[in-house]
Amino acid sequence: MTDAAGFAHLLIEDRDAVRVVTINRPDKLNALNFAVLTELKAAFAAIAADPAVRAVVLRGAGEKAFVAGADIAELAALSPIQARDFSRHGQQMMRGIEMLGKPVVAMIRGYALGGGMELAMCCHLRIAADNAKVGQPEINLGVLPGFGGTQRLIRLAGQGAALELCLLGAPIGAQRAYELGLLTRVVPAAELEETTFALAAQLAASAPQALRGILEAVLVGGECGIEAGLDYETQAFAVCTSTNDMREGTRAFLERRKPVFRGD
Ligand code: COA
Repeated sequence: MTDAAGFAHLLIEDRDAVRVVTINRPDKLNALNFAVLTELKAAFAAIAADPAVRAVVLRGAGEKAFVAGADIAELAALSPIQARDFSRHGQQMMRGIEMLGKPVVAMIRGYALGGGMELAMCCHLRIAADNAKVGQPEINLGVLPGFGGTQRLIRLAGQGAALELCLLGAPIGAQRAYELGLLTRVVPAAELEETTFALAAQLAASAPQALRGILEAVLVGGECGIEAGLDYETQAFAVCTSTNDMREGTRAFLERRKPVFRGD
């Protein structure tokens, strides 16, 4: 069975300008098989192309997990060449989310393990329930993270935490993950949805060109030297002055009212 957008493993819903993407394999704790990776890639390509979508919430169906990892049943049968393709497929899909140019909020309930943690890390904000458990348990299967986990862990939490999580493979609780810089906010489970959607609505009401500039300057700037990064920031800053949203934002401040950003 497929949903209205034609996906077998995803549910797609719009709440005003927020696109909600739900990975819908709750009986397998939303594990990422090849088909789910392909559908996520298509879902985010559609978001990139649709100016009406100004922020995204990515979540897993059910109460138990955001995503419990790559699909181990599929993983177990991979040849080396298929494993290379699986890893690249996942990496490219996740890089597409990271470089989407629109803010993506991961809503994490329960487990975000292995590929699930990697998927959360390519999102721009990670809001977790206080009962969430995150980690990179691939070592227990005789492999390592293959969807960018080693690289994004270093960048988010540093080499020490990256090595601890990947070498030992033990999941950690939400509070410790927050202290390591891996989560943006930890909230009581009953408040997870409300907090996540309030933040997503705030992002969807912000000026899209400024959001894009921030995402690109931070993500690209983090990978190049300071001079190139500053130059990138200047260009992104200058582009904003060509938008009606910037005129609206500055005028609204001076007129002591709330700005309405229309995305032009
Ligand atoms: N891939 C494929 N199937 C998975 C999965 C994964 N990563 N994680 C869970 N599932 C499936 C289980 O096989 C089970 O399916 P079944 O009911 O058909 O047997 C179902 O999801 C429920 O999982 P179960 O293990 O029974 O739930 P639990 O509450 O006892 O344990 C976890 C939850 C998350 C601790 C456990 O499922 C787990 O360790 N999963 C793998 C985590 C992992 O190593 N991820 C990295 C993969 S590279």
